[in-house]
Amino acid sequence: MRRPLSLPRLRTVAVATGAALLARRALRRRVRKSPLWPLPALEEPISGRSERRSTTGRRLLIAERTSLADGVVRLRLEGPDLPAWEPGAHLDLVLPSGLVRQYSLCGDPADTGAYTVAARLVEDGRGGSREVHTALHEGMEVEVHGPRNRFPLSAAPAHILIAGGIGITPILPMARLLAAGGADWRLLYGGRSRATMPFLEEIEKLGADGGRVTVVPQDEAGHPDIAAALAEAPEGTAVHCCGPQPLMDAVAAALPPGCVLRLERFSAAATDPAGSAPFEVELRRSGRTVPVAADQSVLAAVRAELPHVSYSCEQGFCGTCQQRVLEGEVEHRDELLTDQEREGSMLICVSRCRGGKLVLDL
Ligand code: FES
Repeated sequence: MRRPLSLPRLRTVAVATGAALLARRALRRRVRKSPLWPLPALEEPISGRSERRSTTGRRLLIAERTSLADGVVRLRLEGPDLPAWEPGAHLDLVLPSGLVRQYSLCGDPADTGAYTVAARLVEDGRGGSREVHTALHEGMEVEVHGPRNRFPLSAAPAHILIAGGIGITPILPMARLLAAGGADWRLLYGGRSRATMPFLEEIEKLGADGGRVTVVPQDEAGHPDIAAALAEAPEGTAVHCCGPQPLMDAVAAALPPGCVLRLERFSAAATDPAGSAPFEVELRRSGRTVPVAADQSVLAAVRAELPHVSYSCEQGFCGTCQQRVLEGEVEHRDELLTDQEREGSMLICVSRCRGGKLVLDL
C-alpha cells in the first residue's frame, strides 16, 4: 500500500527532478559495461553540486568519538544554537592541517545541540580521512562550515535508497525519516563485510517491518543485484544513491523510465591535464600573472602565488575552488557547474583555458 510522503519542500521537486535527470544523462555516458562494483576504499561522501564555502565557520567541541565499524569513526560535534538541517546535508570540516573535507550528517536532525558525522579511514586516500582518524580527539574543537544540502530527499510516491559502504551516512537519516512517516521505501545497503559496515544494527531494525532493507555484505553474498532492486520500482519512484562511482553507474544504467535519480558522489573521474596546452592566468585583484604548465592545474599555479585559495576534492565535484572568470574562454572539465554558473566562473582544480589567457577575480 503506497502512500505519498508529505515533505515541506514539495515545491523543489520539479527542480530536483530536472537535476537528477541531467545527472543521469551524464552518468549514462560513462556507464561501464560491467555492473559490478568492487567497493573500493572510499573517501567521505561529497555532494554532487557546487556551492562556495561562504558561511561563517563555527568551532564545535568533539564531545564523543566512537568506533562504529572497522575503519569507521563517528564524531559527535557539540555547540550552541546549531542551524537546522535535513537528511542529505553535509558539513565542511576544517582539519588541523587546513584541509577541508565534507562529511554527511548522519545523526538526528532533532538533536539541535550537536552534529554527528562518520568517516572511513582510507589508507591510500588524499589525507583527509587519515587526519580525522589520527588528529581529531574527544575534547578538541574543530572548525565547521554549513550545513549545506545538495542531496535533499525528494518528495515521491515511493523511495528506493541505495548505499555502498560509508555512503550509508547521508542515506540513514533519509531512511529514518521515511520509516517514521510511513512512506513506501526500500533500502539496499552493500559493503565489503559486515564488520566494515556502519549502522548495520539500526538499519536492520528500521527495515524489520516488511523486509524493507536488504543488506549485502560482499564477502557473504557478492555484489548487490541493482537491476533486481530497481525492477519493480513504480512510476515516479525517487532513487537516492550514495556510494562509489561504479555503484552509481550501475544504478543509473538500471534506472527504470519514470523514476527520478538523485546521487551523492564520493569522487569524480580524475582529470589528467597531461597533454593540455600551457597558458597564463592573470589574477586581476592581486596584480599578478602566473603561468600554468601543460601538466599543471590552474589551482596549483594559483596557489603558488595565493596559498590561501580554498580547495578540497581537486577533482571537480565539490565546488570549493570555484572562481569568477573576468576574461578568457574556459574549457570546462567538470560535471558540476550549471550552464549559467559556467558563464562567469570555473572550477580551477580541473578546468582550463581554451586560448592563451584567463583573467580571474583573485
Ligand atoms: S571542485 Fe573540489 S577542489 Fe575544485
